[in-house]
Amino acid sequence: MFNALVLDRSEGDLHVGVQELGVEDLPAAGPDEVHIDVLYSSVNYKDALAVTGAGKIIRGGYPIVPGIDLVGRVLESKRADLEEGDPVIGTGWQLGEVDWGGFTQRAKVDGGKLVRLPKHLSPKQAMVAGTAGFTAMLSVMALEEHDVSPDDGEVVVTGASGGVGSMAVTLLDVLDYDVVASSGSEEAHEYLRQRGADRIVHRTAFEDGPERPMESGKWAGAVDAVGGETLSTLLAQVQKHGSVASFGNAAGHELETSVFPFILRGINLLGIDSNTCPNDRRQAAWRRLASVLSDDDFSAMTARTIGLREIPEACESMLSDGIRGRIVVDLQAE
Ligand SMILES: NC(=O)c1ccc[n+]([C@@H]2O[C@H](COP(=O)([O-])OP(=O)(O)OC[C@H]3O[C@@H](n4cnc5c(N)ncnc54)[C@H](OP(=O)(O)O)[C@@H]3O)[C@@H](O)[C@H]2O)c1
Repeated sequence: MFNALVLDRSEGDLHVGVQELGVEDLPAAGPDEVHIDVLYSSVNYKDALAVTGAGKIIRGGYPIVPGIDLVGRVLESKRADLEEGDPVIGTGWQLGEVDWGGFTQRAKVDGGKLVRLPKHLSPKQAMVAGTAGFTAMLSVMALEEHDVSPDDGEVVVTGASGGVGSMAVTLLDVLDYDVVASSGSEEAHEYLRQRGADRIVHRTAFEDGPERPMESGKWAGAVDAVGGETLSTLLAQVQKHGSVASFGNAAGHELETSVFPFILRGINLLGIDSNTCPNDRRQAAWRRLASVLSDDDFSAMTARTIGLREIPEACESMLSDGIRGRIVVDLQAE
């Protein structure tokens, strides 16, 4: 028997609570099923929306174990490339949205959706990063692959105080970029400086959209959590042959732009999707996270470590008060 946080809906009402389950209660995960002893998970904004019911995240029906991230050790595997004892990471791929996720002491996951925990990353550090760190790493890798280098000038991160944005600020800083954090939260300024921001601009600088299709080229690159008018502004302000990694829609999903920055400046708009990122690239991003960030970086990024029973309260406070840093769930704590 083991404990899991179960989300259920009956007569329109959402119920959430820790339940004792048996392994036979876990839905089968197909021909590549891997049974995992889960060590840690993490609370992402998406999880907060799912657990509180504030957003339509659950698409696979109820009951479900939420949690889009997990790390653990293989107990049993139907895949030849994963053996008992192997440490594995699962993020995205509909985990905690369609398939049962990581807020549990045991999980059955399609092994094709797992990557190996890199050697120099502890299970807890993997969940300090979680989907937020993984998405930030994919964004930074995309800029690097499009030749945005530290010598080219400033890189701006929008939604910088958020989960992914603050990870991107730290990664870019550690990699020697001049990082400009765009934030609407005055109270986050000190936190953003600690995370590596060289300069902070208010998000109002971007949110009305550009005055012209091309403005003066200010940024070597950009990492965008916000979308909408903010992304339109970034595209008009990126220097020749610069790139924008777009991963979020915190302010909107629409995008109004022109072809001019693309055809007259050769800029690139790079789409980042952590959910369905192919496994080779996933593995590369996790290795890179392990090599770029130090133990001190991971400690500085950790806001709280909580147990299963504290998840609902943590989700409520994430939505009502916001949170600086990552919330890690220790599944062995109970
Ligand atoms: N593509 C992917 O794979 C992927 C993965 C994870 C998340 N996401 C998406 O990325 C976005 C950010 O995720 P997150 O986990 O970092 O969320 P988060 O922790 O809530 O951070 C979002 C940040 O965006 C800023 N913001 C919020 N509302 C805004 C508004 N109306 N206008 C401008 N800025 C606003 C705020 O930062 P400031 O106060 O500092 O301005 C906020 O902290 C979300 O849209 C999420 O769905 C995508």
